[in-house]
Amino acid sequence: MLQPILQLSEIEKAFPGVKALDKASLNVYPGKVMALLGENGAGKSTLMKVLTGIYSKDSGELRYKDQDVSFKGPRDSQQAGISIIHQELNLIPELTIAENIFLGREKTNAFGRILWSQMYAEADRLLARLNVKHSAKTPLGELSLGEQQMVEIAKALSFESKVIIMDEPTDALTDTETESLFSVINELREQGCGIVYISHRLKEIFEICDDITVLRDGKFIGQRTVAETDEDTLIEMMVGRKLDEQYPRIDAVHGKTSLEVKNLSGPGVDDVSFTLDQGEILGISGLMGAGRTELMKIIYGALKRQSGEVILNGKTINPDSLKKVLPMALLTFLRIAKEMVWFWAYQLKRTCRFAH
Ligand SMILES: Nc1ncnc2c1ncn2[C@@H]1O[C@H](COP(=O)(O)OP(=O)(O)O)[C@@H](O)[C@H]1O
Ligand SMILES: [Mg+2]
Repeated sequence: MLQPILQLSEIEKAFPGVKALDKASLNVYPGKVMALLGENGAGKSTLMKVLTGIYSKDSGELRYKDQDVSFKGPRDSQQAGISIIHQELNLIPELTIAENIFLGREKTNAFGRILWSQMYAEADRLLARLNVKHSAKTPLGELSLGEQQMVEIAKALSFESKVIIMDEPTDALTDTETESLFSVINELREQGCGIVYISHRLKEIFEICDDITVLRDGKFIGQRTVAETDEDTLIEMMVGRKLDEQYPRIDAVHGKTSLEVKNLSGPGVDDVSFTLDQGEILGISGLMGAGRTELMKIIYGALKRQSGEVILNGKTINPDSLKKVLPMALLTFLRIAKEMVWFWAYQLKRTCRFAH
């Protein structure tokens, strides 16, 4: 039986008023990808921050390579061979890609002079491995969010770690970038690296992971192999309820139309129409670059409207007056609606499944 390279046992961690971890456990095996699953707030990121020494634990055990360990901070855990790619980016837009990758550990010669060409060459090799089509000399700020995330991943690879933690790595990635990431994960697995993969996208879990650990309310709920489990079981473990109650059918009560958008065109948006009723949550779906953000900005007046009409509570709004009259609440609502798209599409998929 394969022995874990890393074992977190019964970790407890409380923040003022919140018990973030309540005997949470996790095993990481060499050459395997362990999914860490749980609802928002289940404690996944906190557990990884306790592991890498960003937070100190209240109690519990950490064993790495058959020894009890406790890391003082990310630098300490990194030196021991454990890297983390955080959910939130930790990069500096004004620096180049290579400077970001080697920040704080620049390669120098015996006289302390930075070996720029060596650093750029190594960074270029890492970028090529991840299929990122930019020179390592490019300022980070010129990259898309997804590409910046790939730089964060390149940085983790540069440590040649034995354990790599990826906290929701694909959230900002396009499908092609995700594919490149997956092929690198497969490479790392073949090299014997242990990977912790945090994601709420079950499809990805089944595609790339070997084993799954589920947390709920900071507690360890169970560990399964991907082969012995299915989506419904995992969701039940995550939410702690039977699946048929997970999305109780609620018929929305639509009120009057509050916003009507007719044939709206502008930068990145061509002839879009929809109506939004009071009491309705409207999902706006599309791939990155499909024009979702631009649509919202044109409605709000932050981008120039070329043609079309926007009617708010029965009153036609002309482009110049939009910023003044459109209430902040509506803008916030539209933002939330956009952010909810993925969740909503997933829910719709499940509802459709229940229907037949
Ligand atoms: N620095 C912090 N201070 C206070 N509460 C926190 C902090 N970090 C996380 N929490 C809380 O701990 C719980 C677990 O959070 P987190 O580990 O981020 O969950 P997940 O990554 O699974 O979504 C949540 O209730 C969250 O609000
Ligand atoms: Mg998290």
